[in-house]
Order: sequence, then C-alpha cells, then structure tokens
Amino acid sequence: MKKWKGIILAGGNGSRLFPLTQAVNKHLLPVYDKPMIYYPLTTLMLGGLRDFIIISDPEALNQIRTLLGDGTRWGIAIAYRTQERAGGIAECFRIAAADIAGCNVAVALGDNIFYGAGLPRLLSQAMIHETGATIFGYEVADPSGFGVVVLDTTGRAIDLEEKPKAMRSRLAVPGLYFYDERVVAISNEIRPSARGELEITDVNRHYLATGDLRVTLFGRGVAWLDGGTHRDLYEASQFVKVIEERTGLKIACPEEVALRMKFIDQPAFELLIDPNPKTDYQLYLRSLLEASPLTER
Ligand code: DAU
Repeated sequence: MKKWKGIILAGGNGSRLFPLTQAVNKHLLPVYDKPMIYYPLTTLMLGGLRDFIIISDPEALNQIRTLLGDGTRWGIAIAYRTQERAGGIAECFRIAAADIAGCNVAVALGDNIFYGAGLPRLLSQAMIHETGATIFGYEVADPSGFGVVVLDTTGRAIDLEEKPKAMRSRLAVPGLYFYDERVVAISNEIRPSARGELEITDVNRHYLATGDLRVTLFGRGVAWLDGGTHRDLYEASQFVKVIEERTGLKIACPEEVALRMKFIDQPAFELLIDPNPKTDYQLYLRSLLEASPLTER
C-alpha cells in the first residue's frame, strides 16, 4: 500500500488581511478559540494522515514550530520547509519533493476550514485510490474568487478554471487535494501563470487531461469556509463559536483528534492535560476523559 503524506501550505502574503498580517502570519490568527492552522491540520489527521510537511516563510515557520513542535505529543510527525516568497500553491511539490518522493500526498491550504460528520469518510475514500488525483467540488453563490470545476450534463468534469471571469460553474474547488506520486513531475512541468504563481489548478488540469482526475462533490453535509478576508475570518469564527457552544464539542482540537484517531493512547493524552486546568481549553481536554464513550462522539 502506498504511504500518504500531508502538506499544509501556510505561506503567502496574507495581503487581503492587512494590517492583521503585517506582523503575524495569517495561519496563526485566531479562528474563534484556536489558531487557524489547527483546522487544516486536524482535517488531514481525521483522514488518518500522520506525517506532515508544513511550508511557509522562514519567520513564520519559527512561530508555527513553536506552536506545533515536531508533532510527537499528538502522535504525528511534522517537518518544516521554507517557501521564500509566494510562488504559488503548486510550488509546494517542488519544495517538498525529497520528503514526498515515492509517496502519495494530500494537500490542505492553511486557510481552509472544513466541518461535517461526513468528512472523515470522504477523506479516507479519496485515499483508497493509489493512482490519479482527487479534488472536491462545493457549490457556492459566488465562485469568482476560487478555482472552479465545470461538469458536463452527465456530471463528468470537463474543465477547470482559476478565478473565472465569466460564470461557467458554481462548483468551487476547495483547498484539499489528493495526488499520486506523479504530482512532483507535473509540478516541474507547469509554468507560472499571469499572476506569477504556480497554480494548483494547472496541476489539476494536467490530471484532467490524462483522464486521471476524480471530482467528488461535498454536498450539503460538509461546511467549507476560509479565512482569506476580514469578513471570511469573522464569519468562520462565528461559525466555530456557534457549533462549539451548541454541541459542547470543539472543532479542530488536535489533542482530541489524536486520541479519537488512536494516534495516542489515554495515558499519553492525560499527559497533555494540566493537573490544575485553568483555561477553558484545558478544562475541555479534561472533560473528554469524563465523557464516555469517547469513540462514539
Ligand atoms: O480556498 C480555495 C482556493 O484556494 C482554490 O479554489 C483556488 O483554486 C486556489 O488557487 C486558492 O485560491 P486563493 O486565491 O484563495 O489562494 P491564496 O493565494 O489565498 O492562498 C491559499 C492558501 O495557500 C493560503 O493559506 C496561503 C497559502 N499559500 C498561497 C500561495 C500563493 C502559500 O502557502 N504559498 C503561496 O505561494
């Protein structure tokens, strides 16, 4: 069976969030009660991934490393690789080429947030396929700021376009992608777009052209948000707050996901809990030990 590794993109300029991102990397900004990067990280963990490469600029990498460490305490491994300037999402395959050689790779954009009971199944289904690529389609009211996938009348993907000027499809492509090992060679072939970036959409077009692209629709069961603009960030925080307060369960808590996925056992989880918890987050971790049965929630 092919080994899967996860890449999380946490670079870019974050220019749409200025001045929030003047001194702080976007992926460290809060989405309600957690740093943004917790969300894509736990999404991939829920798919069963345990081996990660996080890519960002050197200054941000230091801060992200302070936050996440090497992953051992959550039963995962995290390596850090540098992207000097925002050369595009698809540059990640060139940067991580040595790390992912011979492996399949799942990519999560660091500002994308996913939530829904159906998500872990969708992820593990994508990872059943050892060859080709899997992307997702998500119906949005305004697709102009995304990559979109165009389907024919039978539901087959026939085209992909980045930031379409004319409305050709309302199916945006979220920042969660699964590729076989050919992706490194494909990323070496593509050239920067008019905006000077190696586009992930061009990688996907490559798989489409060879008939190796699967497109799975998320449907209503999964919420997809991102933190790209002030409004997006605010709305994502509101969304997380509402769900967490209603259910009493946290979204994107890596300690909890590690325990539920059995990446760590209960004694290892207990070591992550402050014996005299004073923060809501620590109290939440402790409450998970009291609730039963853990695996059913
Ligand atoms: O959110 C989904 C959309 O993300 C897709 O539908 C588009 O096809 C894809 O191109 C991307 O569009 P954006 O314009 O939203 O990408 P943005 O430049 O905002 O970057 C997305 C994330 O990737 C963000 O967390 C920063 C990170 N990034 C981006 C670039 C260009 C990097 O780490 N390095 C980069 O060079």
